[in-house]
Amino acid sequence: MSRQKSNTLQSVTVEAHIHYKTMVLTYGTASVRLTPATLLYAGKSPDGHHILSSAKYLHKELPVRIAHRIKGFRSLPFIIGCNPTILQVHELYIRAYHVLSDFPAIKDQEMEARYSKLVQQLLDDHKDVVTLLAEGFRECRRHIQDETLVRNFLDTTLTSRLGIRMLATHHLALHEENPDFVGIICRRLSPKKIIEKWVDFARRLCEHQYGNSPRVRINGHVAARFPFIPLPLDYILPELLKNAMRATMESHLDTPYNVPDVGVTIANNDVDFVIRISDRGGGIPHRILDKVTDYHYSTAEESNQDPRMNNLFNTMTNSGPQSGPMHGFGFGLPTSRAYAEYLGGSLSIQSMQGIGTDVYLRLRHIDGKGESFRV
Ligand SMILES: Nc1ncnc2c1ncn2[C@@H]1O[C@H](COP(=O)(O)OP(=O)(O)OP(=O)(O)O)[C@@H](O)[C@H]1O
Ligand SMILES: [Mg+2]
Repeated sequence: MSRQKSNTLQSVTVEAHIHYKTMVLTYGTASVRLTPATLLYAGKSPDGHHILSSAKYLHKELPVRIAHRIKGFRSLPFIIGCNPTILQVHELYIRAYHVLSDFPAIKDQEMEARYSKLVQQLLDDHKDVVTLLAEGFRECRRHIQDETLVRNFLDTTLTSRLGIRMLATHHLALHEENPDFVGIICRRLSPKKIIEKWVDFARRLCEHQYGNSPRVRINGHVAARFPFIPLPLDYILPELLKNAMRATMESHLDTPYNVPDVGVTIANNDVDFVIRISDRGGGIPHRILDKVTDYHYSTAEESNQDPRMNNLFNTMTNSGPQSGPMHGFGFGLPTSRAYAEYLGGSLSIQSMQGIGTDVYLRLRHIDGKGESFRV
């Protein structure tokens, strides 16, 4: 191990040690997960009292959630935990724990403003975490015997990260005046509109890479509107649309200017809503169907794009819509499925080998019948 790397390891270890006692105490603390309805109906007071209460909740909650993640990193097999890229993420979490738990009690608006600034800074510092974890685990792939261990670690770390980012972004968004939103919750989300937004994005990427892109027809409950959180859809939809477009283009390499459409169907009901994405890209072959939702499973090497040129981050943060990859790390499906399940929904895949693939994304309403998910 190089000197620099071993220094990093040392500093992580020392710092971890300093906070070990408090952190271990925090390990035992259960996190308080809120239903979106609680976030939505928490009330808005003209004097900004709701923002102060929200900050107080975060101030208590974030160190607990982050301590649980640190425990996860510490429980990784030594050989994986020592990987410099994974260590870098571990260190980010330790630093976040450190600054958040050192922050004094929030008593007034001035403190709240400082706290919000810190939260925004941490969101920025952690924006590349998914890419770093994808790289880190790829680097130590050959040392990994227990695939379920990696799957569990990534499922938990990535969904917990989604939850933390939803809470943090919600708090920051409470400062904004937008009649359609309460924090990150859109009061009247139109599935059709958000699908269209990501269709435009995926088509641009697709055209950039293949010279053309399939048209997308949206049908079903196109007029539906209901309260929902766009954030997870902003991650999942581009991943599913990119996959459908890539399959369509790669199965029609001889006729790139004459490719079948992708169909998107919206079904809305009292309990949940379903978005089905159907392509005619030839389907997922039997031999790989069980593997496509494994982290790092990708057929990217088989097509002519160099996956190393890809930066997962471009699409995950929804920045740089004109650049970014169509495929790469083999993280699109497993992450989308983990997010859907975290939100009380599901992602299921039906392959009609020789014809195409249908992917069903099912998500529970936040104010629907039955138990809602918790953030
Ligand atoms: N609609 C589809 N039709 C055919 N094959 C698909 C489809 N969706 C996914 N696959 C197959 O499943 C694999 C895994 O998909 P996934 O989205 O997880 O990773 P990726 O697209 O290769 O990379 P990433 O999404 O991380 O950029 C793909 O490489 C592809 O072989
Ligand atoms: Mg993909």
